[in-house]
Amino acid sequence: MTIKFSKNRLVQKLLKIDRVVSDLKGIIALLGWDQETYMPPKAAANRAKQFSSLSSLIHEKVTLNDNRKLLSEAKSQIKTGAGFSETDVALVRELRKESEKAAKLPRKFIEMASEESSLSLEAWKKARRASDFEIFLPHLRKMVKLGFKEADYLGFRKNPYEALLDHFEPGLKEAEVESIFEPLKKFSLRLLRQIKNSKAALDGSILLRRYETRRQKELCQKVAGLIGLDFEAGRLDRSTHPFSTRIGSSFDTRITTRYQENDLSFSLMSTIHETGHALYEQGISKNLERTSLGDGASMAIHESQSRLWENFVGRTPSFWRFFYPHLTAAFPEILRKNEEGSFVLALNKVEPSLLRTSADELTYNLHVILRFEIEALIFKKEVKIEELPDLWSKKMKTYLGLEPKNDAEGVLQDIHWAFGSFGYFPSYSLGNLYAAQFWAKIKSELPALEKNFEEGNFSPLLSWLRQNVHQFGKALRPSEICLKATGETLNPKYLVAYLEDKYQEIYNLP
Ligand code: CO
Repeated sequence: MTIKFSKNRLVQKLLKIDRVVSDLKGIIALLGWDQETYMPPKAAANRAKQFSSLSSLIHEKVTLNDNRKLLSEAKSQIKTGAGFSETDVALVRELRKESEKAAKLPRKFIEMASEESSLSLEAWKKARRASDFEIFLPHLRKMVKLGFKEADYLGFRKNPYEALLDHFEPGLKEAEVESIFEPLKKFSLRLLRQIKNSKAALDGSILLRRYETRRQKELCQKVAGLIGLDFEAGRLDRSTHPFSTRIGSSFDTRITTRYQENDLSFSLMSTIHETGHALYEQGISKNLERTSLGDGASMAIHESQSRLWENFVGRTPSFWRFFYPHLTAAFPEILRKNEEGSFVLALNKVEPSLLRTSADELTYNLHVILRFEIEALIFKKEVKIEELPDLWSKKMKTYLGLEPKNDAEGVLQDIHWAFGSFGYFPSYSLGNLYAAQFWAKIKSELPALEKNFEEGNFSPLLSWLRQNVHQFGKALRPSEICLKATGETLNPKYLVAYLEDKYQEIYNLP
């Protein structure tokens, strides 16, 4: 597929509007990045208004009669045939979807939801710092209410949750997620039990020595550059929650990380993860700049890229064969040269923990499934919002055998519900599934991969990803990307096989 818009008159007219919308979205992203990094706290209320005004402007542009007329004209012309490139057709598809969605949502609702979520975000931050769910409770109630309302506007077949899931994974149904997650949950719990019963206890303490923040920061810059981040088109900052965002262009992708002096792996692995997101953004075809197609195909495909670099690259012995010497050079008084093996094993240790963001590869999916199950209950009205901390604890106990001592390490740990992103969490595990499937294909096509890593050469892998995933942006749907790249649609067997093989070896399982 060649990614290029034609000179078609309708397409050019649509692009003219779409470029303004893309610019506005880029400005919103910049404001959001600022809110999470440098914005002084007292600016929060005003920032909420700014988001609201900009979202309203976008809504106005997208629902403009001109735009809708152009879209329906384009649709009927595409049906009759000639004059459109494949990229044109994808653009019309995406724009129609957005315009139809926007038309269903009243402008007043957009303004209110945008302002409320920005305020809710600030309340969540406060609640998390104080580890007090009560501070967040009224805002969360409001966000859930807005979620129901939005689903009503958008329409759904069985359950309001469907309408929300669709934001992140277009067309994905709750029942489909369930049918993927149920077996994944059973498998994960079984493997976790086997690992617990195995005699091999791994020692993770090497990661938990005292690592000075300043030197961690230098290492994070280094590792991001090493695997391919273009710092002329991106930057790395710090924030409470590591994240990645594009400022409306693949020439401006920003990532953040968090430093913990008593855990070297947190900043390093988050940086590799977020760099994976940024590499995706930087690899999107420049022909899609400033258009609705110049973005990741879906949250799950996005997450497949970050998890691929974090886990399938960043936890392998071959990667550390190259990068471990950089660690000993940065921390000569803390890490010894002959500890490389223990370091890699520590990174791959399975141990149930309370926090999703620092979970190992196996228990990570259980964290996600727990959230998915709770969201499903919320939107079936089978749990009251004030009961969430208890429900959270109960599920944690059942799946991971742990109970949070406070709200900060329980129900308040994630940012998503604070800004009303219900339906986002499943994308994380779907991303793991896509990553494993891509990885199986990559390994069969690039047999020298491990040798490349040992030499610090990540460009063969990056080129493969650029070619098969990144360049398309939203011009292909997630399922199309998967099919084109791997020859089949999403198949959970790849992740299951990968995890089973990996831990069988590490833990000497029967
Ligand atoms: Co991510």
